[in-house]
Amino acid sequence: MPTDDPVPPTCQMQDVAFRYDPSSSDRFQLSDLAVQAGEAVLLTGPSGTGKSTLLGLLCGVLAAESGRIHVDGQAMSGQSGSQRDRLRAEKIGYIFQNSNLVPYLSPTENVLLGGQFSKARRDKAGANAQARRDHATALLERFGITDIDRAAATLSVGQQQRVAAARAQFGAPPLLVADEPTAALDHVNRDLFFETVLSTVRAEQTGLLVVSHDLSIAHLFDRQIELTSIAKWGAA
Ligand SMILES: Nc1ncnc2c1ncn2[C@@H]1O[C@H](COP(=O)(O)OP(=O)(O)OP(=O)(O)O)[C@@H](O)[C@H]1O
Ligand SMILES: [Mg+2]
Repeated sequence: MPTDDPVPPTCQMQDVAFRYDPSSSDRFQLSDLAVQAGEAVLLTGPSGTGKSTLLGLLCGVLAAESGRIHVDGQAMSGQSGSQRDRLRAEKIGYIFQNSNLVPYLSPTENVLLGGQFSKARRDKAGANAQARRDHATALLERFGITDIDRAAATLSVGQQQRVAAARAQFGAPPLLVADEPTAALDHVNRDLFFETVLSTVRAEQTGLLVVSHDLSIAHLFDRQIELTSIAKWGAA
């Protein structure tokens, strides 16, 4: 019987080592992490164990000393800083803890910035400026943001974070990453945020990796990984 080829994970990290200070023997060491397409993974762990470090490595903001890091089948590890920047812009939608919107731009203009550094994402979003604007508006509508002509700074914190999620999904990157995205939100806004992000992840078959201390959201995810079960700090 022929077997189906296994679908490659949306992202994968294997035997990764990293040091903030090259002269120190204190290394972050990660054995294995993979997120499949359409899979939502929650990464938890005590403060200071390396959750943000892991995301920095996955997104290519930090450079691993050794090991394999792949995003959508392409190597992040072993690349130059500018190659990592390009790969991140094309493949990863990143949702910051505090939205990081441009305050004087409208929600639509902020979402369009999601394609600022990637032609591939702009092309996927639409063939021309109007089509890309329509894509941005449709993403915002999905997140319940219909008041799209005012400055982002005048939106509520919950609305701003939903605009940030729409921006991360502009041009359908295969991987969404978020570090404590709902830390500043109340329960109602937190639930609204995750309901929409997760429904998009399922619909678009995106991989999702979220770091959070909030264990009450764990049931929304396919899998919860405790960082200390896959990574440690210490001398090599
Ligand atoms: N820029 C940096 N330079 C040197 N050390 C750093 C830097 N950023 C983080 N560290 C160290 O790396 C370790 C892991 O930090 P990291 O921010 O990844 O933890 P975290 O799990 O995200 O914590 P938290 O839950 O508090 O956000 C800590 O010991 C921290 O002091
Ligand atoms: Mg952190």
